[in-house]
Amino acid sequence: MTKERKLIIAGNWKMNKTVAEALDLVNGLKRELATVKEVDVAVCPPFTALESVSKAILDSNLRLGAQNMSENNYGAFTGEICAAMLKEFCVRYVILGHSERRQYQKESDALIAKKALAAHAASLKPIVCVGETLAEREAGQTNQVLETQVRGSLAGLSKEQMVETVVAYEPVWAIGTGKTATTQQAQDAHAFIRGVLAQVFDDATAKKVRIQYGGSVKPGNARELMGQPDVDGALVGGASLAVRDFADIIKNSI
Ligand code: PGA
Repeated sequence: MTKERKLIIAGNWKMNKTVAEALDLVNGLKRELATVKEVDVAVCPPFTALESVSKAILDSNLRLGAQNMSENNYGAFTGEICAAMLKEFCVRYVILGHSERRQYQKESDALIAKKALAAHAASLKPIVCVGETLAEREAGQTNQVLETQVRGSLAGLSKEQMVETVVAYEPVWAIGTGKTATTQQAQDAHAFIRGVLAQVFDDATAKKVRIQYGGSVKPGNARELMGQPDVDGALVGGASLAVRDFADIIKNSI
């Protein structure tokens, strides 16, 4: 399948995998995906496995991502990790504003925007997550919520930075629930997000931004989702924890 933008599929391992388990997983993925060139593939282990995974994928086409970072560059922020620390392990991507962090750590759009700017300042590519809850969808507020999150979480980025940013549309009701958005719901949301990007930045910039879909992506639904014109990849949680599933998602997307 030829797409306007190169697909980017990232595995968000969340709080899973010890170092030994992480190495098993990436070594398996390296074998399975050795010849894949058509898709940018990234794995996002927990911080504790970044160093080992980084070394293990040095000679491969897999790229490394982190799941969060601080908006600050250094200092008295107990428990936080800054961009320079991620750079030490050749991290390229960083997931920001995942719905679990919005929910449990109360991350706001303004905070996520600060993190995105800090990521770019260190030449890390942010994957900025947006998405509505079930209550918001049922109340007909999906577009309004997406617009607020897109405008707020990407505030202050230059056009050049926006092009190097990935947006992940993850309807909260589809994350880890086995419920996937229909391809039409995904396409509609992605097209809407691209429209907002065109308003905030410009048309040419919006056309270059890759928008991933996330929420119960599996080998069985990847092809149809990736076939939508505005779906440029996937952010995969549960199904990224097993070699077979994640490799098949990528193979089925090509
Ligand atoms: P899921 O998670 O694939 O397990 O639904 C997606 C995500 O939270 O990024």
